[in-house]
Amino acid sequence: MVRVLFIGDVVGSIGREMIEDYLYRIKKDYRIDFTIANVENASHGKGLIKKHYDFFTFQGIDCMTMGNHTFDKKELLDYIDEADRLIVPYNKSAVLPGISSRVFDVSGKKIRVTNLVGCVFMDNRYQNPFDRFDEFLNMEQDIHIIDAHCEATSEKIALAYYAKDKASALLGTHTHVQTADERIIDQKIAFISDVGMTGAYLSSLGCDLDSVILKMRGYHAPFKMSDNSGQFAGVVIEFNDDNRPVSIERILINDDHHYCAS
Ligand SMILES: [Fe+2]
Repeated sequence: MVRVLFIGDVVGSIGREMIEDYLYRIKKDYRIDFTIANVENASHGKGLIKKHYDFFTFQGIDCMTMGNHTFDKKELLDYIDEADRLIVPYNKSAVLPGISSRVFDVSGKKIRVTNLVGCVFMDNRYQNPFDRFDEFLNMEQDIHIIDAHCEATSEKIALAYYAKDKASALLGTHTHVQTADERIIDQKIAFISDVGMTGAYLSSLGCDLDSVILKMRGYHAPFKMSDNSGQFAGVVIEFNDDNRPVSIERILINDDHHYCAS
């Protein structure tokens, strides 16, 4: 049996503080074997600097996935070749560096993690993820977990259904709001449309609401990061000895949902 914790989009300093405050307890309470976090928004809302890559490594995150903001901090290019826990979307431009699918040895199992960005309602810098999906689904592994970083729930469920005979979990990220549709599709693939955000709870995707409202009303105002109280969002997936997912459970901690391990 293997238990995997996947943490939804970690946003800014509030998100990093929530990792510091809760990760150790959650890993212990849920007897987690392997931890993945989407960290594409971890450095001031966009991208990932080396200092924060090292922070997550120190906190015990085994694998970090990215998304449409992967290359927003140029500093990434200085350390990406040495960042052996980092995975970037496979449907990025071919001129950009980075590994898109890695295998980790966990308790004798080969756990593959793959990252993609959606193409529905997203910017057009990423290719249609289906175009190369088979290539990754056919790679060697015992357990295959895919971070589908997409805007549209329709695209995420379609990707999961397509992958169900070959992948073990397809977990949605990017929209920052945890959905309540977690399930094991056809007893084959663990799925949730969105794992949710680890960042400021009363915010717009981690941004300060006053600055967001100004921008939405047409003012030329930059987004500011929110400094409101934090939220932790994740899922725990349990795989049996045959590498099949047997359960997926949501974790959501914020001012309205206090932490209690099941
Ligand atoms: Fe994103």
